[in-house]
Amino acid sequence: MTHQITFLLPTLLLVLLAASVIDASQEAQLIKFMESRAMKRLFRNKPSSNGPSEADPWADPSSFSHLLTLSMSPPESTKEADRIAALPGQPRGVNFAQFAGYVTVDEKHGRELFYYFVESPYAASSKPLILWLNGVANVIFLESPAGVGFSYSMNTSDYDDVGDQRTAEDTYVFLVNWFNRFPEYKGRDFYIAGESYGGHYVPQIATIINFVNHAFNETPFNLRGIFVGNPLLDDFRNDEGNLEFLWSHGVISDEVWAKILANCTFTSSDDWPCFVAAHSFQRGNIDRYNIYAPVCLHSQDGTSRSSSYLPGYDPCIDDYVPRYLNNPDVKKALHARADINWSNCTLELAWSDAPVSMVPTIKRLVKNGLSVWIYSGDMDSICSLTATRYSVKDLNLTVTHKWRPWYTPDSEVGGYVQQYEGGFTLASVRGAGHLVPSFQPKRSLVLLYSFLKGMLPPADVPKIKRTTPALHANASEEARFREFVRSKRSRTISSSNAYSEQELEAKFNRRLKAEYSASEQSNLKAVDKITPDGVGFNQYGGYVTVDKKNGRALFYYFVEATTDAAAKPLLLWLNGGPGCSSVGYGAMIELGPFRINSDNKTLSRNEYAWNNVANVLFLESPAGVGFSYSNTSLDYDKSGDQRTADDSYIFLINWIERFPEYKGRAFYISGESYAGHYAPQLAATILTHNINSKRAVINLQGILVGNPSLDVFKNLKGQIDYLWSHGVISDEVHDNITKNCKFSSSDGKACSDAMDAYDSGNTNPYDIYGPVCITAPDGKFYPSCYVPGYDPCSNYYIHAYLNNPMVQKAFHARLTTWLGCKNLPWKDAPVSMVPTLKWLMEHGLPVWLYSGDLDSVCPLTATRYSISDLGLAVTEPWRPWTANRAVGGYVQQYTGGLVLISVRGSGHQVPYFQPEKALIVVSSFLRGALPP
Ligand SMILES: *[C@@H]1O[C@H](CO)[C@@H](O)[C@H](O)[C@H]1NC(C)=O
Ligand SMILES: *[C@@H]1O[C@H](CO)[C@@H](O)[C@H](O)[C@H]1NC(C)=O
Ligand SMILES: *[C@@H]1O[C@H](CO)[C@@H](O)[C@H](O)[C@H]1NC(C)=O
Ligand SMILES: *[C@@H]1O[C@H](CO)[C@@H](O)[C@H](O)[C@H]1NC(C)=O
Ligand SMILES: *[C@@H]1O[C@H](CO)[C@@H](O)[C@H](O)[C@H]1NC(C)=O
Ligand SMILES: *[C@@H]1O[C@H](CO)[C@@H](O)[C@H](O)[C@H]1NC(C)=O
Repeated sequence: MTHQITFLLPTLLLVLLAASVIDASQEAQLIKFMESRAMKRLFRNKPSSNGPSEADPWADPSSFSHLLTLSMSPPESTKEADRIAALPGQPRGVNFAQFAGYVTVDEKHGRELFYYFVESPYAASSKPLILWLNGVANVIFLESPAGVGFSYSMNTSDYDDVGDQRTAEDTYVFLVNWFNRFPEYKGRDFYIAGESYGGHYVPQIATIINFVNHAFNETPFNLRGIFVGNPLLDDFRNDEGNLEFLWSHGVISDEVWAKILANCTFTSSDDWPCFVAAHSFQRGNIDRYNIYAPVCLHSQDGTSRSSSYLPGYDPCIDDYVPRYLNNPDVKKALHARADINWSNCTLELAWSDAPVSMVPTIKRLVKNGLSVWIYSGDMDSICSLTATRYSVKDLNLTVTHKWRPWYTPDSEVGGYVQQYEGGFTLASVRGAGHLVPSFQPKRSLVLLYSFLKGMLPPADVPKIKRTTPALHANASEEARFREFVRSKRSRTISSSNAYSEQELEAKFNRRLKAEYSASEQSNLKAVDKITPDGVGFNQYGGYVTVDKKNGRALFYYFVEATTDAAAKPLLLWLNGGPGCSSVGYGAMIELGPFRINSDNKTLSRNEYAWNNVANVLFLESPAGVGFSYSNTSLDYDKSGDQRTADDSYIFLINWIERFPEYKGRAFYISGESYAGHYAPQLAATILTHNINSKRAVINLQGILVGNPSLDVFKNLKGQIDYLWSHGVISDEVHDNITKNCKFSSSDGKACSDAMDAYDSGNTNPYDIYGPVCITAPDGKFYPSCYVPGYDPCSNYYIHAYLNNPMVQKAFHARLTTWLGCKNLPWKDAPVSMVPTLKWLMEHGLPVWLYSGDLDSVCPLTATRYSISDLGLAVTEPWRPWTANRAVGGYVQQYTGGLVLISVRGSGHQVPYFQPEKALIVVSSFLRGALPP
């Protein structure tokens, strides 16, 4: 596979202007550039119209006629003189030729552009030529000759007179001269690629080349296509798209977004209120070019480190690039002028010309038959996919091949792609920031290769079976929840499910006529103790009978706190499904003290286990799930929300009798997913009992639920909107769904048909950027890629471990076939938990919700919709919170004590994907103080 990738290597790569290595400062430049343009607009008193407010020479390319009379300067250097023997410190085995040097683009002014050129390792003479305009912005925003990479001008007034037009013309002149120096490339298939501000630059150079090619019969330029990543295409669309991106990705709150929408039109008529609204949020120290990437943390002692580990990516590279490039030996090897100090740029605001929108220029190129591909790393918030889609929409091109996943040779979804008339193509690159080739080198190569071959990237998984095995698909909590939702969607939901608050209270009272009292539990605690000791805390496992007559018993696994257990609160954990095991998932891969290793046999310690801060009780609920059972199998047919809450309550009363030292101890309920039902319902049951008996039978202090399922329809709407804003669903399909679905029980076939019209590919909906477990036809399985601390194949190890009879015995479980999730018939479930949450808050109970923002199944978007239905006022506005000196996520507090915390870069099972952040969340919750 590696060989295949190497073989795809792009042929000939001409990297212009040294800027390709200077990524981070290039980024900062673009932000400053865009902000300066916005400020200029604000201070320009009379906005003219919505149209381009600056000169657009690109509308009439004949303005480039002077280039036709270009007189060729004699070659100032030769190819051989530019050849690089070796770069200082380069690795062994470099098998391609490298060149670097200057090309004069304006003799009178002494303006010279520096280039670095790499030939293809294989059959260079038959490969096309690509001009890569990476980070041109770095070159353009000059303040002094030394400030622009290695390019310079002898006439410093050139630095005050920069703009799109001169940049494109200079590049054209550069190319003419360069082809003279490298004559073997004349007539070779030629492509121009770039990113970022290349959204201006690349189409503009293509426009000039097209114009010249039309004027002459013979030119050195056999321009075949352009390929631009995360382009800046339109100032207003970019502003609008980027803010929307930040909102849909949980950086901007609903409240601020509403203000932005109320005050901004995203046209030149926008004034200060728009500017203020669009700046009234805190994003914290995140990388705006890849909102999920680690950032470089600088210490006072001058050292720096990455805030977390991302294979193949180093956010601190800016620290050593200038050092390397300013090494005299490096300069000499590169043939760069010794007197030029390479540095990142300082901002030059005197940018003389740049069209507001590149859409007309691009449309003209497409109409002229040029192959135009735009790609977009979907984690970039500066030239976001959302913004690019707005501009693509403005092109008014008809879709010829609908948005669909594309695959890499590693069987991963590399992104999504859609093609339009004239061959115009928009592709996303999944899990990539602004600098796609640096974040996702393999994926970007597959895309580049497809572009060069003029065909869309692969539509299918190569080699392996696409379906995950039955064990994985049926057993996992995820799959179970999906199935459950699907069944609810197709069933008409009875009105009795729509509880009002009064009905709610009456219902709990009705069920509580008889006060439950605990049965005899003495001695059972000792029996349940898991031995031998030696891990530093006590563990217990066993059953509590909740229905003697039917023989129904619930299994629990209890781990006491690692230190000072007697002073720490009691925390119940419930996994969702409904029907999934809290021992298999919650305890063994999420927040428990141990993790099952891939040998299926041994365990390792979980550094961030929740029993660092609480005594944690894992309950298998309801009967039929995990190790819990009933001797009356008819019981299973009566499963539902009500009985689950009642049984869990009876369990607790008896369990506390068995562990009497926890009587009166501060008690909290936590869980995830479908526990969005379980936790509030159990809490309401406990509170009603406490109210009825006028004492705190159970000293309930609060509930904490992650990625909760709260409302069938809001969840569905949230899923669709989430998938759309994260580039999984196309604009066209999303428009169709919006047209055909009301997200209420009146939705029929038209809605389901519209909703079934997308394909998210072989991705994990519970972590849309994460790896998946790939199962080969021979049954071997492996993760599709490596992510530290997360193994998508862990279902296999859990299953093997918990079905080991020795393990079951140690847990004091009955010998049985343990399943991760069970498909229980489900009798009752309210459509919405909003009334229950309201009732709890009215009774003074703190409700905390957290949300891993990469989950598309109970996404942050959906949770926000349900919170909005609660109609609460914000008491602490959305702000970043800190984990390990980086942004852990965002947090907001509401009246009534409701707290919403997002966990950045986490899938559905937050304690699994982001254990360190999850521990901070639960610790804050137990302290009753927002995370720092
Ligand atoms: C340029 O580098 C210096 C340190 O070398 C840094 O302080 C500055 O922020 C950088 N500027 C940009 C635009 O990246
Ligand atoms: C530099 O360029 C400006 C105009 O671009 C010109 O007026 C000036 O004479 C030039 N200076 C020198 C020293 O060539
Ligand atoms: C924007 O509009 C809202 C009204 O929807 C208003 O409350 C707010 O103050 C306005 N201005 C800013 C800067 O947000
Ligand atoms: C797209 O269509 C709209 C409305 O029909 C029109 O105003 C706009 O100029 C068109 N844009 C392009 C690039 O053709
Ligand atoms: C839009 O929805 C309708 C009704 O469900 C369906 O028949 C049609 O195929 C959908 N079109 C697209 C482009 O998804
Ligand atoms: C672990 O168990 C799975 C079945 O759940 C099996 O396919 C796999 O081969 C086992 N691994 C080892 C190392 O025994």
